[in-house]
Amino acid sequence: MTVTYDYTGKVVLVTGGTRGIGAGIATAFTVAGAEVIVCARHDPPPPPVAGVRFVRADVRDADDLERLFSGLDRLDVVVNNAGGSPYAPLAGTSPRLHARVIELNLIAPLLVAQRAYPLLAASGGSVVMIGSSSGARPSPGTSAYGAAKAGLHHLANCLAAEWAPDVRVNTVVVGLAATEDAADHYGGKDVGTAIPAGRMATPADVAAVCLWLAAPGYVTGAQVHVHGGGEIPAWQHLASSDIS
Ligand SMILES: NC(=O)c1ccc[n+]([C@@H]2O[C@H](COP(=O)([O-])OP(=O)(O)OC[C@H]3O[C@@H](n4cnc5c(N)ncnc54)[C@H](OP(=O)(O)O)[C@@H]3O)[C@@H](O)[C@H]2O)c1
Repeated sequence: MTVTYDYTGKVVLVTGGTRGIGAGIATAFTVAGAEVIVCARHDPPPPPVAGVRFVRADVRDADDLERLFSGLDRLDVVVNNAGGSPYAPLAGTSPRLHARVIELNLIAPLLVAQRAYPLLAASGGSVVMIGSSSGARPSPGTSAYGAAKAGLHHLANCLAAEWAPDVRVNTVVVGLAATEDAADHYGGKDVGTAIPAGRMATPADVAAVCLWLAAPGYVTGAQVHVHGGGEIPAWQHLASSDIS
């Protein structure tokens, strides 16, 4: 069975759409016929993706957001994807690092959604937040990030209620994902073995859910977990090795 979407005539903004999960989301909307705008702090790696327009913008910078939105007269979908955090156990890290992580993963998506709202209300559009399992279970080493993502999940629920029925707001809660940086991030270990599905999520797995959530429908204020069944708890490995 093949599921296809037709986003012809629709305009989609994907923050951080130049690599990783965001690039997968941008490509999927382009293939579905949308005009796609991506923003990031640096130029996208070559080759350029046909149908994707790049705007250099740091989502934490008010002037950059103003420039990004002043070039838009229609918007149907915003995917708040730009995000992330270095691994940094809390003890010994600076207040500035925490502030920047929370700014990127919570404040910026809020400001992007706020700025997009009039355009989305005019088109009957929607916002998709890219959340994280780190915001749904403890996230040691990235505590500020986990807290910001938990806040992002809740923000989406609040905006879904505040903006209904004009603009729908949903969250994709992503588990461990296979991006360009994954090998470095997990020290070359095959962390797919810690996932019931047996592998990490791909950008295409996340994009498929974005295409569905952004298509016209009744669903708003929802969280869709794209995590392959979650993470197998460490106690299960210990218990099964004791039994065997
Ligand atoms: N990878 C995972 O395992 C995983 C798991 C759960 C959730 N997520 C979430 O999925 C999203 C994408 O993650 P990813 O792993 O694909 O990230 P990634 O590979 O590091 O890519 C991040 C993208 O965001 C852009 N970006 C970063 N900071 C930005 C800023 N201040 N302003 C504008 N653009 C910015 C980057 O481009 P520039 O550097 O050029 O700005 C890049 O295009 C994030 O929200 C992340 O929290 C990822």
